[in-house]
Amino acid sequence: MTNPIALETDGDVAVIVIDNPPINAGSLAVRRGLVAAIEEAAASASVSALVLVGAGKTFIAGADIKEFGAPIEKPSLPDVIAAVERCPKPVVAAIHGAALGGGFELALACDARIATRDAMVGLPEVTLGIIPGAGGTQRLPRLVGVARAIELIAAGERVRGDAAKSLGLVDAIVDANLRAEAISYARGLAGRKRRVRDMPVPKEEAALIETAAASAVKKGKGRPAVRAAIEAVKSSQTQSIDEALAKERSLFEALRSSPEALALRHQFFAERESTKHPDLEGVRPRRVQSIAVIGAGTMGSGIAIAALDGGFDVVLLEADEAALARGRNRIEEYYAGRVKSGKLQVPQASERQSHLATTVDWARLASVDLIIEAVFEDLEVKKELFRRLSSIARRDAILASNTSYLDLDAMADVTGRPADVVGLHFFSPANVMRLVEVVRGRDTAPDVLATALDVAKRFGKLPVVTRNAFGFIGNRIYAAYRRQCEFMLEEGASPREIDAALEAFGFAMGPFAVADMSGLDIAWRMRKSQAATRDPKARYVDIPDRLCDQGRFGRKTGSGYYQYPSGAKAPIEDSAVAGVIEESRAAKGIVARSLSTEEIQRRALLAMVNEAALLLTEGVASRTSDVDVVMVNGYGFPRWEGGPLFWANEQRNLDDDIDWLARVSGPGFVRGDTRFVLRTGS
Ligand code: COA
Repeated sequence: MTNPIALETDGDVAVIVIDNPPINAGSLAVRRGLVAAIEEAAASASVSALVLVGAGKTFIAGADIKEFGAPIEKPSLPDVIAAVERCPKPVVAAIHGAALGGGFELALACDARIATRDAMVGLPEVTLGIIPGAGGTQRLPRLVGVARAIELIAAGERVRGDAAKSLGLVDAIVDANLRAEAISYARGLAGRKRRVRDMPVPKEEAALIETAAASAVKKGKGRPAVRAAIEAVKSSQTQSIDEALAKERSLFEALRSSPEALALRHQFFAERESTKHPDLEGVRPRRVQSIAVIGAGTMGSGIAIAALDGGFDVVLLEADEAALARGRNRIEEYYAGRVKSGKLQVPQASERQSHLATTVDWARLASVDLIIEAVFEDLEVKKELFRRLSSIARRDAILASNTSYLDLDAMADVTGRPADVVGLHFFSPANVMRLVEVVRGRDTAPDVLATALDVAKRFGKLPVVTRNAFGFIGNRIYAAYRRQCEFMLEEGASPREIDAALEAFGFAMGPFAVADMSGLDIAWRMRKSQAATRDPKARYVDIPDRLCDQGRFGRKTGSGYYQYPSGAKAPIEDSAVAGVIEESRAAKGIVARSLSTEEIQRRALLAMVNEAALLLTEGVASRTSDVDVVMVNGYGFPRWEGGPLFWANEQRNLDDDIDWLARVSGPGFVRGDTRFVLRTGS
């Protein structure tokens, strides 16, 4: 094992350099090297202070998550921290890039922290289902108070260097030459130790702390790690630091191998895996700096904002001036809101908006590198648009569609240059949602796909590649899930019972509340267009059609599966809907039975798993982990369950379960091959 730690000197200051690419994770070798270097510098008569600094692009971005599955080998991070605190000479953490998790805990154990303005510090452990286990819950409240520490730790918040300085998390900000500044700061301490552990916990009103705790539990959906983090932080008030540290460690140990932590770790690596495509290795993306977005509706404006935030020059095009003005207003309002909430400074917001041009003139598209259409979801409309683009766009420009389920190849075919066409399916609101399905058409060129992935990453998005198939990965799985929920509606459960069961599982919203929110008419139109080709023997639930026949299109019409009297925030059950459901059952001779929460949850989840198996068999999705990334980041599947296929791998008799699902679903059910979703078989 090569030593990732170098001990250098600058006069009387020892500079300990951590070099463990790519992110200087605090692996065993790093911990070993740090203890040895700190002890050596502590013992050296010629050293009066120490500086810890990261090589490469970052300080220490966290403990090595790959080591989380195994027992911790000594020295542990608390052992490294003990060495820092035991060292009779001041130790300064010089932070650039990220000091997260264990990296920030190490920095908190130092006698001072200095950081670059754009550095990022924080304790994101709860996002991985654990809590800080090396003193973060004890040292942070000593710097910022208990209430603020609860907020930061329970949300796993990452704080920029300049904001960290205002909060008191770091002592100084440097704009240039971090290492040299840290050395002079360390000298300036003149041998004085300033250990955070020796500072008192600031006195605060109990009510303030309780409010922060209650709000953190609510925001954190009451997850075990959030509760444990709060408990640990609070103990800083009631226990000695050593007792509280022991308590923190035992809470940390207990959570480390919890099912939730496993699921969250799976999601963490699945998200990183999703951007890797061995077949694109060595393929150079095309250069993209200017992007045109066609359509200034909610989706188009959202994409334009994401592009502006990603540092691109944007041309927003609409058919007429009025629609264009509405789009421009949306974007201006968004940036005004960011400024108002303190997320952006006025100059930054103005700078970003200065890269926006709006136009109704199609000729303006002739110069851009990438064109993304976000017009009405209708294949003929889109084909017409692509035909037009093919005669306007530059020869090496990329043409992208934001379609969420239509046939990309059919669009590509009309262009005469199908290799340049790719899908970029953003989720609404496009400037917020991280997921982007990148659709690889039949003829999409490798460098076009590589460019689409690259652009999505520069937008700060999470791109998942899918092949061209109706509904791609997400909408196709979601449709199977919703269909299964409609079966259960027909069999006897109410919309509320089904929504409640799935919300209890952890979905942000149940399927019928979601349907009402997005509008029932879209799926209605789609069903009508498919009516002629539908298998007449397949089970078909006509309840949504009956609702649409009555003009119940969801929230926007004041009623759908629920009613929404004006001013109502939450959906309200509606006896008229119960009547419609009853009529539908009666017409088919179905006698309603009651379905348990467990049955509802299992059937809905198994329907997702089965559809995913089909998608993987067809090659629409290429990896099980991609399916999990899509469903968690685009469809409200609870992250702490890891995704539907992580869930599937936890089930004991998946094949028997799917057989059961096939029986209860009835005619038309297409059974997937579970070998494609099981980790051992994929
Ligand atoms: N442990 C092990 N590996 C890690 C890691 C960690 N804590 N954090 C990142 N990595 C790996 C990634 O898996 C990836 O590996 P790969 O290139 O083999 O796929 C690589 O480091 C780069 O990470 P990536 O996220 O793609 O880089 P980035 O520059 O976009 O972001 C960070 C860098 C540090 C901001 C981001 O990786 C991050 O947030 N990491 C998690 C930090 C964290 O939660 N720490 C607390 C742990 S308790």
